[in-house]
Amino acid sequence: MNKTVKEKKLREFAKSVINDLRCKKEIKYFLRYFRLGEEQLIQEYVNYDLDVFDYENEIYESIVMRLVLYIHNLLDGSWHQDRQNTILEFLKKINFETAVDVGFGVPTKYIKHYILNKSAKKFTLVDLYDSAFDFAKVLLFRWSKTYKKTINFEKVDMNNMEYIGDYDVFLFQDSIEHTKNPTGYLKKTVFLSPESSKFILSLPIGPSVPSHYIEFKNKEVAIKWLENSGLKIEESKDIFVNPKVDLFASDLDKKFYNFIVLCSKK
Ligand SMILES: C[S@@+](CC[C@H](N)C(=O)[O-])C[C@H]1O[C@@H](n2cnc3c(N)ncnc32)[C@H](O)[C@@H]1O
Repeated sequence: MNKTVKEKKLREFAKSVINDLRCKKEIKYFLRYFRLGEEQLIQEYVNYDLDVFDYENEIYESIVMRLVLYIHNLLDGSWHQDRQNTILEFLKKINFETAVDVGFGVPTKYIKHYILNKSAKKFTLVDLYDSAFDFAKVLLFRWSKTYKKTINFEKVDMNNMEYIGDYDVFLFQDSIEHTKNPTGYLKKTVFLSPESSKFILSLPIGPSVPSHYIEFKNKEVAIKWLENSGLKIEESKDIFVNPKVDLFASDLDKKFYNFIVLCSKK
């Protein structure tokens, strides 16, 4: 897709969410709270999707990027919405009390679901950057004044290869490929986790980008990688990008998609 056309469309998508009556007030609140300009948010949205080969993991450091991730999750018809629905669907099938979401990005639909339903389940949200926690605290407080009863934060760099502790569920949503040794990190986590732990991962199938340290050329490669790491796939779903909305993928192989798996330990 021509870059000028792509940029124009991306600007329109960002504006459509910012001005959507369902979230307009909330987004304006975040812009004021974090002293960000609307144009700054739109430009960063464009930068994130215009050329995925143009940046590395440092892009996630800023607070404006958290808002960018958040508005992607609100974009109607996008794969972000399908991904969130699948994660929630898989979680609902599991009996669990504790879950950890590594590289959580921003709180997503499943967190909103459990918080609004006053669930007693405990969630630990893990990320590398302070911006993730700064944004999440403000968003979660808007969703529930008592979120602290069930949500914990932990600043962790997956690159340090430390075990994050025992949980009933380990979530890695488009995150484990961002650590320098994804295979070693997954193997270690699976090996040390309780026998009954479940793992939910969403993996990008297709060409690798500079922020990733592993490439899953096709689903078979991903399945083998999970099995070699000590996991058994119980259920899986393919989430395809919507070429009309998910423009970030326009420069990637047409077959690019998300492979979401619910696994138990072998
Ligand atoms: C592609 S985003 C995915 C966000 C979210 N899980 C989602 O699916 O929308 C990758 C996330 O991993 C985090 N991340 C990158 N490198 C990391 C590391 N070494 N340790 C912990 N988190 C990391 C980033 O800050 C970012 O929030």
